[in-house]
Amino acid sequence: MVYEFTKEDLNEIEKIKSRYPEVKPATLPVLWIAQNRFGHVDPEVQRLVAKTLELPEAHVHGVATFYTQYYKEKKGKYVLDVCTCLSCQLCGGYDILHYLEEKLGIKKGETTEDGMFTLNEVECLGACGYAPMLQVTNDKYVNNLTPEKAENLVESLKKGEEPEYEKIEMPLRKNN
Ligand code: FES
Repeated sequence: MVYEFTKEDLNEIEKIKSRYPEVKPATLPVLWIAQNRFGHVDPEVQRLVAKTLELPEAHVHGVATFYTQYYKEKKGKYVLDVCTCLSCQLCGGYDILHYLEEKLGIKKGETTEDGMFTLNEVECLGACGYAPMLQVTNDKYVNNLTPEKAENLVESLKKGEEPEYEKIEMPLRKNN
């Protein structure tokens, strides 16, 4: 597949570049634009970002692989990151993970055949007071999970409905 940025993407990239005295700091936001556009930043997409920013491919690859938030391969439409770190584990994080494995018919790290869901087991997402919790596609948090709540989430997403996400106080995260 040949990846190309749209005209709008390129305009946005030019704006981002103009904010910095040199081009390297634009790597992070331009990788986000690429991930939003293509759903991932696999090696081909990383090459496109490097070419667009006129930076070495090794630099872009280094940045993309440093952050787990960048998907280095194709994922499902929704990526469910289930936290099983200490607080979540003690509050039933593994029950939620295993429930979702059964519900979706996949193991952690896999994507459903219809391409709708990828299920991951992740480390602490900084919302331990709301354990057990999961994150949907690098964005919304679903807190105080129960299997029922996990099921409702999956069913809503399947129907293309935006579930009601609880707002929590996370001053360091722009989306909460
Ligand atoms: S242990 Fe799950 S959010 Fe911190």
